[in-house]
Formats: sequence, C-alpha cells, structure tokens
Amino acid sequence: MALSLAGKFYLCLVLMLASWALLAAFRTLHEASIEQKHEQWITKHGRIYADSEEKGKRLEIFANNVRFIEDFNRAGNRTFKLGLNAFSDKTVDEFLQFSTGLLLPSTPRPRTTSFMHANITHIPRCIDWVAKGAVNAIKNQGQCGSCWAFSAVAAIESITQIKTGKLLELSEQQLVDCIKNSGCSRGWMDTAFDYTIQNGGITSETKYPYIATNGTCHVPTASLSVAKIVGYEDVPANNEGEILKAVAMQPVSVSIDGSRREFHLYSSGVFNGNCGTEVTHAVAIVGYGTARDCTNYWKIRNSWGETWGEAGYMRIQRDYAQPEGLCGIAMHASYPVVQ
Ligand SMILES: *[C@@H]1O[C@H](CO)[C@@H](O)[C@H](O)[C@H]1NC(C)=O
Ligand SMILES: *[C@@H]1O[C@H](CO)[C@@H](O)[C@H](O)[C@H]1NC(C)=O
Ligand SMILES: *[C@@H]1O[C@H](CO)[C@@H](O)[C@H](O)[C@H]1NC(C)=O
Repeated sequence: MALSLAGKFYLCLVLMLASWALLAAFRTLHEASIEQKHEQWITKHGRIYADSEEKGKRLEIFANNVRFIEDFNRAGNRTFKLGLNAFSDKTVDEFLQFSTGLLLPSTPRPRTTSFMHANITHIPRCIDWVAKGAVNAIKNQGQCGSCWAFSAVAAIESITQIKTGKLLELSEQQLVDCIKNSGCSRGWMDTAFDYTIQNGGITSETKYPYIATNGTCHVPTASLSVAKIVGYEDVPANNEGEILKAVAMQPVSVSIDGSRREFHLYSSGVFNGNCGTEVTHAVAIVGYGTARDCTNYWKIRNSWGETWGEAGYMRIQRDYAQPEGLCGIAMHASYPVVQ
C-alpha cells in the first residue's frame, strides 16, 4: 500500500525524531560516563572542591582532558600513550603556573668548562641508576615551582650513593628557603650546587622537611650537613653524546620544555611528542637505553608524584634530530662533583 504524501512526511518526521532522541541518549550516556570517571578520579586522588561551581568547572576541564587523551590514544600511531594523572582537572596554564619553576639566570652565568667525563671509554649500552639503587622514590613538588631544587637534590643524592653506597634523602626545602632570589617561583640547578658548596653541604629531608611553600632559611638546621659536594660541571651544551658519557657515570640535572599538554598527560612509552625548546622545567636524567622498537631513550625522573608517567618517570626519545635534543633536554645539563 502506497503511503500518502502526508503519511510519508509523518514517517520521516518520526524517524528524524527517533534518531535525534537516540543521539541525545548516547550523548547523555557519554556525559554520564565522563561524570562517573570524574567521580572515580576524585575518590582516587582525594580531591576536595570548595563548592559545586568549582566542581562544575573542574569537570569541564577534566572532560576536555579525557577527550584529548582518548582521541590521542585512539589514533594508535604513536610510541607513547596518554592517561589520567593527579593533575587531570587542571588546564595546561594552571599546571605550568604551579608545577614547574625553572628560571634561567637573566644574566647568563659563565658555563663551567671542565668536563671530567669527557674521555671515559666505557659507555654501557644501557644504564638504569634506579635499578642500581642510586635513586630515591619519586617525590612531589606540589604547588610550588621548585622543580630546580628536586632536580639538583636528585643529582646530589645519586652521586653520594654512587660514592658512599648510602642512599640519603636530602632537603629540597633547604634550597628553596636558603638560596637568595629563588623559592617556589623560580630557581636554577647550578645555583643550587653553588649554594651547597658554599654552605659546606646540604642537610637531610628529615631534619629540614619539604613543605611546598616559600619559607625563611632556618640557618642552624641548614648547617647540619649530611652530604657535601666540592663542585659542579656543565656538560657541553647541545650534545646528547656528551650527556651520555656523563649519565654513564652519574645522574644528571637537565632543564626541559615541560609546557605542552602531551607532556602533562604522558602516561607510558617512549615520548616523542609535541615539544619545544622553551625550557621551563627541570628533571634529572637517571638512565638511558633502547626500546624494543630500537628507539633510543633517556629515562628521566620527574617531581610530579607517581601518578604521572611510568610511576613518576618518563622515557623520552634520545638522539633527536636537533642538537638541543627533544624538549631541549640537551641545552643545560649539569652534575655535582664529590670528593
Ligand atoms: C597519527 O594519526 C593522526 C590521526 O589520524 C594524525 O593526525 C597524525 O598526524 C598521525 N601522527 C603520526 C605521527 O603519524
Ligand atoms: C681528554 O683528552 C684530551 C685529549 O687528550 C685532553 O686534552 C683532556 O684534558 C682530557 N680531559 C680530561 C677531563 O681528562
Ligand atoms: C617565593 O619567593 C620568591 C623569591 O623570593 C618570590 O618571587 C615569590 O613571589 C614567592 N612566592 C610565594 C608564593 O610567596
């Protein structure tokens, strides 16, 4: 039986309405699942929001990050994955404001010229100072731009362990409080090494614990040194081959461009993502190796807790096409020297 013109029109209308309703239902489902994900995430990370307005705002940012992660991972054509971490309800700008903190000196300090590892002959194919027991558990700088202090302390802790066999936990807070014109908003690793030399050493985490805010220097505590360095050296700039020699001998402090979203949401694999060379963050290189797909990588230790990356670490592409290295990792590398 042929439908009348009006009948066809109504059928069409009904079909349109039905598909619209179905689409709307799917959307609500998806939204609901994002909201559920957010709730689970809140529980997992113990997040507390001031009010429902704040929560709504955070949900929106969270949802945006989830979509970014899902789209990225779905493409499936990259050597690394993105994922949720403790910062996933923050925008890139908020994150940058609180969780980095490198400031290159406004008047460039002269680079040191000696490089004690220049002529080493044995460079293993891979090295992992974490597996060798020379690196402390991952720390978290919190909402304080003290990455530079964590980077410097990591390098001092490791060389101390390599020389003495003792893995101490040293005080980032001492560096944050006691170095002039530094603190939660800025800092530089070589300045931290300089201070440590001048001060006759650095005290322990237990004696001078981390509080993630600017404090005033507690001089009596700062003088209770438990580890000393006698100098520091800059690795020749923009040369990953030279950094390799240094890392073969000890973990190295480096600056890095940690400002891009892929870096924030990195979860696993060898990172070769979108990155620049505006170095605003600092980490320590604690090893290197070659991935199964033959990509050479650096293993870096971050100070963003264990929810970021591979339990707080990132493998990032080594031997990059540009001399600065991926994310500028080869631009400013330095390490402390002990007796
Ligand atoms: C991966 O796939 C996405 C989406 O198809 C594309 O935009 C992007 O350029 C690809 N990236 C690489 C490195 O191939
Ligand atoms: C490395 O070798 C070169 C060339 O022999 C030499 O000039 C330099 O002093 C050596 N450097 C170190 C740190 O031993
Ligand atoms: C911390 O100290 C630095 C350097 O003195 C200063 O620039 C910054 O504003 C301070 N930050 C806070 C949160 O007080």
